[in-house]
Amino acid sequence: MCGIIGINSNKPVSATIINSLKKLEYRGYDSAGIATLSSGLINEIKSEGRVDNLEKNSLVQSMQGTIGIGHVRWATHGLPNSINAHPHSSQNVSVVHNGIIENSTLLKKFLVGKGHKFKSQTDTEVIVHLITENLKSDDIINSIKKTLKSLHGSFALGIIFKDQPDLIVGARRGSPLAVGYGPNENYLGSDSYALKSMTNKITYLNDGEFCIIKKDHVEFFNEDGVKINKKILQLSSEEKEYEKGDYKHFMAKEIEEQPITLKNGIKEYIDTVNNDINIYNIPWKQNEISSITLIGCGTAYHSCLMSKYWFEELTSLEVNVDIASEFRYRKNRFKKDTLYVFVSQSGETADTYAALDLCNKNGMKTCSVVNVIESSIARDSEFVLPIHCGTEIGVASTKAFLGQILILYILALKFGSVRGDLEKKELSEKLKDLKNLPKLVEETLATDNKIQNVSSTFNEAKGSMFLGRGFSYPIALEGALKLKELSYIHAEGYPAGEMKHGPLALIEDGMPVVVLAPRDNYYKKTISNMQEVIARGAKVLLITNKSSDEIISENIWETIEVESTNDDLLPFLLTIPLQKLAYYSALKKGFDIDKPRNLAKSVTVE
Ligand code: M6R
Repeated sequence: MCGIIGINSNKPVSATIINSLKKLEYRGYDSAGIATLSSGLINEIKSEGRVDNLEKNSLVQSMQGTIGIGHVRWATHGLPNSINAHPHSSQNVSVVHNGIIENSTLLKKFLVGKGHKFKSQTDTEVIVHLITENLKSDDIINSIKKTLKSLHGSFALGIIFKDQPDLIVGARRGSPLAVGYGPNENYLGSDSYALKSMTNKITYLNDGEFCIIKKDHVEFFNEDGVKINKKILQLSSEEKEYEKGDYKHFMAKEIEEQPITLKNGIKEYIDTVNNDINIYNIPWKQNEISSITLIGCGTAYHSCLMSKYWFEELTSLEVNVDIASEFRYRKNRFKKDTLYVFVSQSGETADTYAALDLCNKNGMKTCSVVNVIESSIARDSEFVLPIHCGTEIGVASTKAFLGQILILYILALKFGSVRGDLEKKELSEKLKDLKNLPKLVEETLATDNKIQNVSSTFNEAKGSMFLGRGFSYPIALEGALKLKELSYIHAEGYPAGEMKHGPLALIEDGMPVVVLAPRDNYYKKTISNMQEVIARGAKVLLITNKSSDEIISENIWETIEVESTNDDLLPFLLTIPLQKLAYYSALKKGFDIDKPRNLAKSVTVE
């Protein structure tokens, strides 16, 4: 959460900082701010709301200075207003921060005792005053080193100094931070996406490191203030800037891009010539693994849950699934023969990273399924399986979800085949069906009129439910999450068979209920559960797949039929109408689809 940018140049920087902040807005968007150095002073301008508000401020437009920092905020401490917006500055120092300072109350008490005056309710402001205090007796390197050692919690920082008009300091612990290199200028950014329009040469800071960015060179230090050398990575040319094009929202574009996501994943991981799976470099022998634990948050957690069904179906492995924020604090019994798999689009989610770190510290086997390959989770996992879906900007994850479940499905097939749980013929049939999946997703995407119409009913209701059994249950959870986060409608995902144990009491006349009942092994059972909710007055939107068999049930409000394929792959197709339902219902409500309220794309705080 929160996005940071810093530019040290020989040209004025404010307009470029504002443009970069627009790219970072997916990380947080409740307030924004900028600080530059000019005429020997720190100038700071901040505003509540979006970067557009900041840009409209006439003072920003005339802002001078060839060195500056900027920030978009996702509030943790203090209301989302212009006072709490970053940068926070004293006369001498200005700071932008992503993360949480856990000992800020204690530090504030100490600093107030020394005569420092605080203006905001944020934890960040203590960093400004600590550096200011330390600079009274130390040089810049020592004061930064000392300040960082006093801070508990997580941070990525960008800092400028009134008396050091030629440098920006960047520092990282827990929250991501990258340095970029340009012609006669250098940059600091929360991620390479914000820097892409300026450079494709990047260095990522590791935990505990800090750097001094000058116009013509960058120096890196470890936590003890000792100079270190770091590699400059060249981002691939594929990683061009990602734009909305003719689409109204990034989310609409990302939904439509899903056939490409699947094609990319299949191209990368399926050996079409030998009808095999291109994952040859797994660093462990199969007899070293007897169970698998999959860990993630939000949509990524749903991907883990989805793959549990596949791993159990296709392999003899014992399978567990965990929510990262729970796993990281539980008393886990780490087992040497367990493979821990971390699923994350951004690769920076704080809880998922902490769970990975815990596994690494306990000497476990770790693998990650990520979209951002330069991310912390990818860098710190023993084995990485990228999903290759390209940049995802919409806060509500769509193409990354399909990308994640695709790779997890392929991994389940791989484990099933190398362990001898899956016969060669069976594998070959499943791979054949998989190759056809992008086309089926394309066809399913092409039918959406009904969804636009039914979305109004969901908007008018007090709440809604999403039901499924077996392979469809994780998809029901994902559908409910999409509707919640985009349309702010209460939506509950439930295993259809569980309704009678309590939630059935929620059903009242006219309540919209989505029932996922593809013609798989669970079909008849789910249809019975559907009849139970219809009998209690629910308006059922049935999502099934095309079949020559008639649906034997009365009083179904609406039916949507996706394409047909083997049972394993139906979850991919069932996901499409649910993403569209959430999209259209938010569109009708006029909500900000790419940036839903209270949320951020990359959750880098606990
Ligand atoms: O970047 P990650 O995949 O680790 O993010 C995990 C969740 O924060 C994310 O999936 C979140 O639930 C999405 N907003 C859901 O659409």
